[in-house]
Amino acid sequence: MARDESAQGLLKESARRSHSSDRGDNAAFDSDSDLDATDYIDREAVRPPTRRSPTASFEPNTKGRKRWCSCLFTTLGRRSKCCIGVLAAIGILWVLLAATGVFVYKKAQEEPPYGQSPPWYPTPKGGIAASWADSYVKASRMVSKMTLAEKVNVTTGTGWQMGLAVGTTAPAIYVGFPQLQLQDGPLGIRFADNITAFPAGITVGATWNRQLMYARGKAHAIEAREKGINVLLGPCVGPLGRMPAGGRNWEGFGADPYLQGIAGAATVRGIQSEGIMATIKHFVANEQEHFRQPWEWGLPHAISANIDDRTLHELYAWPFGDAVKAGVASVMCSYNQVNNSYACANSKLLNGILKDELGFQGFVMSDWLAQHSGVGTALAGLDMTMPGDGLGWADGKSLWGPELSRAVLNGSVPLERLNDMVTRIVAAWYQLGQDDEKKFPRKQPNFSSWTDEEKGVLAPGSPTEQEQVVVNQFVNVQANHSVIAREVAAEGTVLLKNEDLLPISRQGLNDGKLRARRDIVERATGKRSEGKFKVGIFGEDAGPGDGPNACKDRGCNQGTLGSGWGSGAVEFPYLVSPVEALRKQFDKSKVELSEFLDNKPSFGKDGSSVVDELELCIVFANADAGEGFAKWADVRGDRPNLRLQNNGDDLIVKVASSCGGGTGDVIVVIHAVGPVLVEDWIDTPNVRAVLFANLPGQESGNALAEILFGDTNPSGHLPFTIGRTLEDYGPGGKVLYLPNGVVPQQDFKEGLYIDYRHFDKYNIEPRFEFGFGLSYTTFEFDNVVVIPQRRKTRFPMRRPNPAAEPPSYSSDIPSKAEAVFPPEIRQLDKYVYPYLDNTDGIEVGQYPYPDGYDQQQPLSEAGGDEGGNPDLWANYVVVNVDVINNGPVAGAVVPQLYLQYPETDLEVDLPVRVLRGFDKVFLKPGEKKTVKFNLTRRDLSYWDVVAQNWAMMTEGPYKFSIGLSSRDLSISGAW
Ligand code: BGC
Repeated sequence: MARDESAQGLLKESARRSHSSDRGDNAAFDSDSDLDATDYIDREAVRPPTRRSPTASFEPNTKGRKRWCSCLFTTLGRRSKCCIGVLAAIGILWVLLAATGVFVYKKAQEEPPYGQSPPWYPTPKGGIAASWADSYVKASRMVSKMTLAEKVNVTTGTGWQMGLAVGTTAPAIYVGFPQLQLQDGPLGIRFADNITAFPAGITVGATWNRQLMYARGKAHAIEAREKGINVLLGPCVGPLGRMPAGGRNWEGFGADPYLQGIAGAATVRGIQSEGIMATIKHFVANEQEHFRQPWEWGLPHAISANIDDRTLHELYAWPFGDAVKAGVASVMCSYNQVNNSYACANSKLLNGILKDELGFQGFVMSDWLAQHSGVGTALAGLDMTMPGDGLGWADGKSLWGPELSRAVLNGSVPLERLNDMVTRIVAAWYQLGQDDEKKFPRKQPNFSSWTDEEKGVLAPGSPTEQEQVVVNQFVNVQANHSVIAREVAAEGTVLLKNEDLLPISRQGLNDGKLRARRDIVERATGKRSEGKFKVGIFGEDAGPGDGPNACKDRGCNQGTLGSGWGSGAVEFPYLVSPVEALRKQFDKSKVELSEFLDNKPSFGKDGSSVVDELELCIVFANADAGEGFAKWADVRGDRPNLRLQNNGDDLIVKVASSCGGGTGDVIVVIHAVGPVLVEDWIDTPNVRAVLFANLPGQESGNALAEILFGDTNPSGHLPFTIGRTLEDYGPGGKVLYLPNGVVPQQDFKEGLYIDYRHFDKYNIEPRFEFGFGLSYTTFEFDNVVVIPQRRKTRFPMRRPNPAAEPPSYSSDIPSKAEAVFPPEIRQLDKYVYPYLDNTDGIEVGQYPYPDGYDQQQPLSEAGGDEGGNPDLWANYVVVNVDVINNGPVAGAVVPQLYLQYPETDLEVDLPVRVLRGFDKVFLKPGEKKTVKFNLTRRDLSYWDVVAQNWAMMTEGPYKFSIGLSSRDLSISGAW
């Protein structure tokens, strides 16, 4: 969430330009033309108290700007040379960009653009689904009593830092609708004290455990409610993981739409079971951080992710479908453009796919400052703008707020669109039971996102003097959630290699084993080790470093890695480092522990160090990344490569060669935001075990110790592929680090072939395939039984008629008086209000609408209910398989089902195999259980771009291969 104030002067101009140059479908007439309006009055009874400057916790990074200024205005001395150089470089860059622009433009004349977003209007109204019918009835009663200003209040955030949460709407007091408090994020309550830092999404994905996914969501929501939050800004299923180095992949659950969909939906159910509104984000294709939004990267526009219709359906939009089916209350549209139309102004995406085809009944909120036009976004299906400001942080110049009031009064935003926006938000509130004042008392959150002090102001984003009030009550909401956090961390740890080493015991090795080992080493080296078992722990990633919260938003890589950085991170209440847990748990009467907690492999140089004596070395290394507003070393959000950071590879190689003079056993532990290359050391003979612990959150060390000592049998599986090189992921797997035009264009030309689909199609041997994970026991499969449930038919049943009617309201444009500042309200500067100073000159008129606006689109045959056509969710076939633990110890197994489509005469390109089922079952030694996979029509279909529907193959058998990973499929059945 960076704020580049240096760019703000330009922002306004560029916004105007962008409206006129935008694609027709979004170039709606904008009522935001008067962006200079600065007179905003109190939007509700926020009593402006005494002055207090906003806390520094989220201040813009003005460092770069200052350097620029001094550079630009210094004409004498050494700096002037630097200035000329910098200016020349900028000049060259712009010339290059312009030239590329011309080239791209010319090319575009020759070939049609990749991916299209045709206009889709008007916005389908909410209220068609039986599952939401009661909430819509209640909402319509309330909304029909709201004034224009109240309606606008519900749709528009109050501005950046104009409340205690990261996003706050304003209330409709007289009808009893409260402010909504919105807070990040996917792994815990951001900016809050006394909360749980759960493991990140990627670790949750690696558990492949639906119950844990649900339980983590539920615990997260309990904390949100007890902190006074209404809407959680998570879970995250986009980015999907097209590019393994993508900066925010770790917030989601893995590089496969099915896995993301199941995990996202389970998390949504968990969160919403506690009455908290979940937000599935980011819709859609925010696959990389570079150029994700205007100006953050120096360019006036965000990158355009260009995606074809089929890929959009089968990959990127797929998990959002699961979340909608699970009843998610809110969807956050993303920063980037999709097919050259901003995701939050893209009528095809929001109106067409999300609201018609997927039948989404909740509300769409913008990512923070992802809105770039006022009327255009309203018509395209946006329902709530966050944080409410206009084109710059805390500028108070909302594109909605007063401008939405104006647009409704002059008819450029149809009143029925505003009514639908508000009804969707209010219905979501009823749907989650938030009208229950006992559970949701209408109070401010009991913590402030902007200060750690007990007292502060309610709207620190405003320069207006305000009264100091208690803003942090330090309420401890952790309960026993550390248990879930630890379970997820342990079950999300993937055992990649184990050559008869793990688990170890707290005594190191029992006496017999220890003697035997020492005999072998003595025979080989002539030296005999005596006394305690000697263990070394290596690497900065094993230790606490400067503490988990040393850097703002966790935006640096130091100490052990518990999460990535950005809005998806939290303030750790504590972080149990691996070394802390191991120190406690090794039996000191039997084990002598040595620690080398940095990454400078200076040990062992003289050939006589302690390292030479070590019998077991546990070496830790990591790779970090995060949201694009922060940068650490050469990681600007996205990683520059897939290598371990902080010299991690060299450290491992050095430890392997030095540990016991090369005779010691080595365990490598990796904490990472995604795949890392392991080629430098994975085949080294004494590297006998490798654990990939993902991002484990606060319980890191405890969870790891459980696995190392065998209290928990590892059952994590990779939620992505680990390739041998970045190139192995194909051209589509590469982040676009340098802009290829003024509006960077990224064609998703690999289509469906990301991650394992790419490796399978091109027959590339991964180092560790998607779904891979070892156990301390072994499993076998037997007895596949395929039980058809329904007849195969090419298309789903007809789209059903709506189960309910959306509410209807008076279509009379409200009185202008409703939008004028009430004189009794005292205003806070920069706070976003719904009011106008006056309504002079506002006339209902004929305004230019986007191309295609007056053309009603046919409703999608894939739609008809929440989640789409219900037939898509019907089970068409059940596959049962027996799984047996035929090894020595108890453990959990993850049977995975991959579907192979029938060979077909149809000219459809089909992936070799796609994940379509998984489960996790615990088995004692010798125990057998039957696992059941339900396959829905959607699971068995591909998106037919001509029919614009999900199509099944009716000829030839579907094959279901079952096993322990995408490449270890030992048994199969067919239908
Ligand atoms: C992120 C969102 C987040 C929002 C509010 C944005 O920068 O992209 O994921 O929810 O900020 O903090």
